[in-house]
Amino acid sequence: MIATAPSTTPTSTDTFPLKGTDHLEFYVGNAKQSALYYQAALGFEWVAYAGPETGVRDRVSYVLQQDKIRIVLTSSLLPDTDIARHVALHGDGVKVLALWVDDAEYSYYTAVERGAESAFAPFKMNDEHGEVTLSAIKTYGDTIHTFVDRSQYKGAFLPGYEARKSVFPVKSVGLKYVDHCVGNVELGTMNQWVKFYQDVMGFKLLITFDDNDISTEYTALMSKVVSNGNGYVKFPINEPAKGLKKSQIEEYLDFYKGAGVQHIAVATDNILETVSQMRANGVDFLYVPENYYEDVPERVGAIEENLEDLKKQNILIDRDEDGYLLQIFTKPIQDRPTVFFEIIQRRGARSFGKGNFKALFEAIEREQALRGTL
Ligand code: FE2
Repeated sequence: MIATAPSTTPTSTDTFPLKGTDHLEFYVGNAKQSALYYQAALGFEWVAYAGPETGVRDRVSYVLQQDKIRIVLTSSLLPDTDIARHVALHGDGVKVLALWVDDAEYSYYTAVERGAESAFAPFKMNDEHGEVTLSAIKTYGDTIHTFVDRSQYKGAFLPGYEARKSVFPVKSVGLKYVDHCVGNVELGTMNQWVKFYQDVMGFKLLITFDDNDISTEYTALMSKVVSNGNGYVKFPINEPAKGLKKSQIEEYLDFYKGAGVQHIAVATDNILETVSQMRANGVDFLYVPENYYEDVPERVGAIEENLEDLKKQNILIDRDEDGYLLQIFTKPIQDRPTVFFEIIQRRGARSFGKGNFKALFEAIEREQALRGTL
């Protein structure tokens, strides 16, 4: 069986249709160097660029793509811009979770009418490849959701961008689509953000994890997952919970200086191959000790992969009523211990790996201990 995308059964709960994730934009200190990491280590192709050479004076943006995943890396060319201030405050991080919509005007006005705060009002951009309509609302921290209607556009990314190609051979590591994007929010604010997605976008509350589900001997967190109707857009929201030591969420909030995107889960249909290539490319992953694997056969039952192969790549396994999933977390992808990637392969399972939370969070605690932040 190959891994499948989430259910596509439409429901009437969405206040406006979301077709999926359009792109994720990171504000970073040095987009040129980050773009090389995304190509060489993560297997993304360079597809578009905007900067001084294309008539943009104050910034550069590199657009990288792997299958359906589109990442934009943007750096400021000037010291006193929103981008420069964002990077100074948060370090490298996700500014935009852009959503693909049919109608960026309707989506925006519906969202604002339902209580969302505007980031920017709808506007159209044109070039010889057609027209795109963009609008945006604010979400947690300094993060925004841009609504993108590209139905009338055939260019490489957006008007103002020129098509580019990687200048060395880039080998895909098999990443396919964005499975979910997780936000960390301040203590006591998780429910308010869950309500935001329910009220503004009509999202459903999919799952709740409390600190009994997600705790180790030392630290705890709480999490709720909201999803749109077709299941293509899923946003787990975490907040710290009281434990004996500092929660990983608190560490994130301390280093990111507020709420923001914690991790982006990207799907593959061959996690063994994907992770082994990423390791060979220099990507480092969280380490889970070998004894994790002792109760896997009993807990998970029969799986198609060879357990020894999974153990060798340190990949975690969990089962729910629909099937099973394989997952692994990278270490943070920048110097601050903030944003990281999750690699996930779903073999039927639609959940998030609850059976692995303890092992993963203990792995994060070991990293925290090394950083002196536990
Ligand atoms: Fe995740």
